[in-house]
Amino acid sequence: MAVRPQRSEGLTASRGDAVDVEKIELDCLLEAAYRRYGFDFREYAPASLRRRVNRRVQLEGLPSISALQERLLREPPLMQQLLLDLSINVTAMFRDPSFYLTLRRKVVPLLKTWPFTRVWVAGCSTGEEVYSLAILLDEEGLYDRARIYATDINEEVLDRARQGVFPLAKMQDYTRNYIAAGGTRAFSDYYTSAYDGAAFDRSLVRNVVFAQHNLASEGTFNEFHLIVCRNVMIYFERSLQERVFELFDDSLVRLGILGLGTKESLRMSERAGKYEELEPLERIYRKTKA
Ligand SMILES: C[S@@+](CC[C@H](N)C(=O)[O-])C[C@H]1O[C@@H](n2cnc3c(N)ncnc32)[C@H](O)[C@@H]1O
Repeated sequence: MAVRPQRSEGLTASRGDAVDVEKIELDCLLEAAYRRYGFDFREYAPASLRRRVNRRVQLEGLPSISALQERLLREPPLMQQLLLDLSINVTAMFRDPSFYLTLRRKVVPLLKTWPFTRVWVAGCSTGEEVYSLAILLDEEGLYDRARIYATDINEEVLDRARQGVFPLAKMQDYTRNYIAAGGTRAFSDYYTSAYDGAAFDRSLVRNVVFAQHNLASEGTFNEFHLIVCRNVMIYFERSLQERVFELFDDSLVRLGILGLGTKESLRMSERAGKYEELEPLERIYRKTKA
């Protein structure tokens, strides 16, 4: 005997529980952030997004993600807060020193073949990576004919990057990184200590342009010889990663270099065939076809 479906199937509480209601709420929140403020987190990896959004829900004393969405639509400052919540800004000077060592040994000689070097540091966070690259280029005699475009989605971290004052307590670790990265001077020459901060030499940013740029929704703005984007795309879903690879590919000159660091790879990208691996472990690629 055939079993007739319940008229209310799909509307009962138990069916509601089976459906991931919170995922629907999260999608709606991200859609609201995009349509109201233009910040596009819709293709970020959902597990970490959900954790971070739920933390904000709790801190605001709200009952649900939907309640947060309601407020987000009407309160622009909450978007700034959410932006801070959703972007992971952890960074360090000469982070993964072997990456910089490879840049110094294998990439700098290639950059020297051009009369000018344009570098894009995408997702630069509070700027430690930018100051590290400026130091490296300076020591290799390239800085005077270089321009570094340092971008991030988050204006607040960019402000800190512009200031270039990092915790003094971290200088010991950073000195170790600097030495392991092949640094040729005394690291302390680059900063002066003031209270608990290390203020980096302003001349290091004389050729740096800091600007807000959203990799998920904005286009290319230059032709670069070197693009560095590390620890950013790990938070993106595959489709968004591919779009960002395309953006980088469109922004690189032929024979330009793309440095992704150990966590990301071009391997799965449709454009991988246009690149050769300069250093497989550090995921540093050279664009061989226009
Ligand atoms: C973990 S930090 C990495 C910092 C630095 N690249 C490093 O490796 O030390 C990730 C940075 O990516 C930025 N970010 C996330 N989504 C972005 C997007 N769509 N466009 C530009 N930057 C983004 C975040 O604001 C954050 O500052």
